[in-house]
Amino acid sequence: STYNYGMIGIGVMGRNLLYNIAENGFSIAGFDLDKQKINDLKEGATSEMTVQGTDSLEEFVSSLETPRKIILMVPAGKPVDAVLENIKPLLSKGDIVIDAGNSYFKDTNRRVSDLATQGLHFMGMGVSGGEKGARFGPSIMPGGDLEAFHSVRPMLEAISAKVNGESCTAYMGKDAAGHYVKMVHNGIEYAIMQLISEAYDLLRKGANLNNDQLYEVFKKWNDGEMNSFLIEITRDIFQQKDSITGGFLLDQILDKAGSKGTGKWTSEEALETGVAIPTIDAAVASRTLSSYKEERIQASKLYTKVEITKPEDIDLFIQEVGDALFLSILISYTQGLSLLVKASEEYGFQIPLKDVVKIWRGGCIIRSSLLEKFYEVYTEDPNLSNILLNNKIAEIVKSKVTSLRKTNAFAVTNGIATLGLQTVLAYFDAYTTESLPVNLIQAQRDYFGAHTYQRKDQEGIFHTQWENTNN
Ligand code: 6PG
Repeated sequence: STYNYGMIGIGVMGRNLLYNIAENGFSIAGFDLDKQKINDLKEGATSEMTVQGTDSLEEFVSSLETPRKIILMVPAGKPVDAVLENIKPLLSKGDIVIDAGNSYFKDTNRRVSDLATQGLHFMGMGVSGGEKGARFGPSIMPGGDLEAFHSVRPMLEAISAKVNGESCTAYMGKDAAGHYVKMVHNGIEYAIMQLISEAYDLLRKGANLNNDQLYEVFKKWNDGEMNSFLIEITRDIFQQKDSITGGFLLDQILDKAGSKGTGKWTSEEALETGVAIPTIDAAVASRTLSSYKEERIQASKLYTKVEITKPEDIDLFIQEVGDALFLSILISYTQGLSLLVKASEEYGFQIPLKDVVKIWRGGCIIRSSLLEKFYEVYTEDPNLSNILLNNKIAEIVKSKVTSLRKTNAFAVTNGIATLGLQTVLAYFDAYTTESLPVNLIQAQRDYFGAHTYQRKDQEGIFHTQWENTNN
């Protein structure tokens, strides 16, 4: 028999996505070299699904209807190239290969060109939502060849998450746009996770809240305007018991954060394209800092911490931390989206921001109620360069910024590290300041290197023989 789709790589993510596709009425064949995974695939399939697993690439490719539509779910980097090298000789003109992993967008661009020489369509596609998302409805960010996109579109719309009846998938733009958008999604994910962890730290150290109380706070936050996947799972994390000690699992987890690179790529990209995303940078740096556990222990003995002065009104403090967190999350999205605006111009991706926030409303890790507001804003003004410039958003921001200042003041006075929250405030203050002190930087550059400067009162480029007052 012939199958509508093929999936290469049927580990946890691949298998779940495969079942999702099959459950939506598309027949699909899976390929993996690991026989165990093929067995798992068969065992987990329901009788309504038309699925098959094989460890023969030839058998796999010839079982697919043409033009073939093959999805790759293999680790980013060399494994993707290795798979492509192996299947290329077996494919024919017009076949579509979709990389659904977290590939680096520059690799995707290279692969698009490479496969195009053989008449093959290569699409980069971001998939977010973890295991459960893959199985029951992820947010899907496809990009690349438009014709290829249209031929897989009905399937993507069927398997993706739904918000108000709308599918959380849309065309993200040309070439590697899908992977680029997913990369930025992950950068924002890093920032939000960092900010949540800082709020947690402020509440536990600043206000002495225990895990049960933290659960209540996060529950309230999730039931309100901060409703989102990451706040929701954080709420639940505070309740998880540890089977070894019987206490809370969170308290037994070592404070060293791992990462697979997407956050770092986002920061590198922002430097490359000249976009300020300091909160995402801070989130990456904080994970790095956390990994120096041994040095931190040494330093904590050398530099004793300031004694924490508890806030007078705990309820007010909790509310302010909540408002600070909400605003900081908003500004993390802002920074990420501003990178998309610039990258879209720079690389000619033509990324539709309105669709980006639309499909992030459901299925993905950074889904939140706030994105519904963003969607309204971008629907009215799809070309907004920075969402902070919108009047409705400005109203929200204005109502929270004092809390962000007070929360940061508390953190600074009491020696609680808040790289994320502090960069949000500094970004906001710089972005909303008409007159920055960089006139001085320009003067210094011209002083020591004749780098020239512009004037406020005249057009043109100027250079001055600066005088050393020592002489
Ligand atoms: C998603 C996640 C997913 C993965 C991250 C984790 O959208 O479903 O972003 O892609 O969990 O890659 O990244 P780190 O291991 O770098 O934290």
